[in-house]
Amino acid sequence: MLKSVGEAVEFNHVSMRYPGTESNAVTDANVHIKAGEFFSFLGPSGCGKTTLLRLVSGFLDPTEGEVRIGGKDMRGIGPNKRPTAMIFQNLALFPLMSVAQNIGFGLEVRGVSKTERLKKAVELLELVDLPGVENKMVGDLSGGQMQRVAIARGLAVEPAVLLLDEPLSALDLKLRQHMRTELRKIQRRTGVTFVYITHDQGEALTMSDRVGVMTGQGVIDQIATADQLYNEPQTAFVADFVGENNAFAGAVTETDGDYAILNTESGSLKGRNRLNLNSGQKAIAFVRPEAILLAEDSTAVENILKFTVKNLSFEGSFITVFLDTPGGQTCVMKQNNDGSTPLMQTGTEIKVCFSAENTQLLPYGEVSYA
Ligand SMILES: Nc1ncnc2c1ncn2[C@@H]1O[C@H](COP(=O)(O)OP(=O)(O)OP(=O)(O)O)[C@@H](O)[C@H]1O
Ligand SMILES: [Mg+2]
Repeated sequence: MLKSVGEAVEFNHVSMRYPGTESNAVTDANVHIKAGEFFSFLGPSGCGKTTLLRLVSGFLDPTEGEVRIGGKDMRGIGPNKRPTAMIFQNLALFPLMSVAQNIGFGLEVRGVSKTERLKKAVELLELVDLPGVENKMVGDLSGGQMQRVAIARGLAVEPAVLLLDEPLSALDLKLRQHMRTELRKIQRRTGVTFVYITHDQGEALTMSDRVGVMTGQGVIDQIATADQLYNEPQTAFVADFVGENNAFAGAVTETDGDYAILNTESGSLKGRNRLNLNSGQKAIAFVRPEAILLAEDSTAVENILKFTVKNLSFEGSFITVFLDTPGGQTCVMKQNNDGSTPLMQTGTEIKVCFSAENTQLLPYGEVSYA
């Protein structure tokens, strides 16, 4: 079995501004990706993800700061001299060449013999669970199979770091979900450091050891594991972007140990104050749809509010309830459907509650529906 050794990738105060542009594509990135880690950058379109990868591959040099691979400063080291390989969104395979020729392409450039290249291609096809197709034309493969060939080609040059730029986005949903597990498996088998970029949170959260969430201009808001991002977001952007969330904006009226009270248009809300907000500060209380309960089913004494049922969406194992709040916004509640839950009537007023523990207070920031 092929086993490369993964290397660490460090961004130390890295900023990047393209010549002739007004703003940064990457702003003060500080990320230490561990050797052998599956690390993803997640962020909306145009936030600077591809730019970050190009800084690692050597197609770009940072305007400020340094990129290190395996502890070595990469400044002045060209793309061909770096221990990296890149997989592009469109895969960039050669459709009129055989699978083996595609996989061996980078090796041919390096002067590896034809017999060696074929041997390597056969081994790599085993590794990516696509054995026996070395003589097929790439144009005759399915999307998922091409994906595997692209990964095999990336791994053929034995990179310490594999850079993947939204490689699944061209696949249909089912295949994309299947390939998530496959990519993770391949990464574990090889030990190569994977730096993966995507705007799809499902991908980032399911595959990665850690995720860096980016806002515009290449600012990295938070670097954490999937469950930390979901349960303990550090900024309003992360709370809003990762998973579904309800946002109630207001001002802090009182702090109380690990908790604080926020005055919002929907009422006074108590929540966790992990970032030590002060009285008077503008903030948002975030509550996940699954944390909103019917008051009659709960023992919570905080955050009991009266909302009006706007409409329902029955989704099998759960029911999504859209509620109108006194503040004039829509609040989303998700109820598990155990078969006994009576459907709520549109237009009725219900009492809901959510515990202070499940309510996250974060400094005010632009979100999609606060
Ligand atoms: N060669 C370039 N010259 C000038 N500006 C550029 C160049 N490449 C990218 N940009 C700008 O830098 C910013 C970040 O671009 P980048 O391609 O890194 O974003 P991205 O997160 O990969 O986006 P997407 O998800 O759409 O691929 C954008 O505002 C983009 O317009
Ligand atoms: Mg991109």
